[in-house]
Amino acid sequence: MAGQEQVENSMALEFLSLPENVGLARVAVATFAAQVDMTLNELEEIKVAVSEAVSNAIIHGYEGKPRGTVRVTAEHTAAGLVITVTDQGRGIQDVALAMQPAYSTDPERMGLGFAFMQSFMDEVEVTSEVNRGTTVRMLKVLKKAGAE
Ligand SMILES: Nc1ncnc2c1ncn2[C@@H]1O[C@H](COP(=O)(O)OP(=O)(O)OP(=O)(O)O)[C@@H](O)[C@H]1O
Ligand SMILES: [Mg+2]
Repeated sequence: MAGQEQVENSMALEFLSLPENVGLARVAVATFAAQVDMTLNELEEIKVAVSEAVSNAIIHGYEGKPRGTVRVTAEHTAAGLVITVTDQGRGIQDVALAMQPAYSTDPERMGLGFAFMQSFMDEVEVTSEVNRGTTVRMLKVLKKAGAE
């Protein structure tokens, strides 16, 4: 496809929006990512970013009810690791506002999930439609071995 990076490997995982599946998503993506040459620190950062995005899908997208599916994909391309987390939940009215650090619609929460994703990943792109759902696309650029 024009303008698309060649995919070296890819995976997709779908599960019900239950909190116990956050760990499943984290382990699956980490196992996929571990095939690629990267530091343990980078792997930890990817795990946190995936956990935050999947938790958001379950907690906010589906409002804690196990009535929806969350889809997680990972792709290894020349650009790096591309991870997407998609829900078909309630969507986000104002994405720019939602992504501001310390912003949360839940007074019990810190509002730091998107801030973690942005600090640990090189790109975070959120597309969302109210009552349709949300997709978070994250890119982790892979440093060349020995570059550090
Ligand atoms: N998948 C989603 N569907 C609907 N709303 C979402 C989704 N993801 C995030 N949001 C909205 O964006 C806000 C900010 O998300 P963020 O992860 O930064 O903070 P939080 O989840 O509220 O708190 P924390 O992640 O620190 O527990 C949420 O409070 C919620 O209103
Ligand atoms: Mg969150």
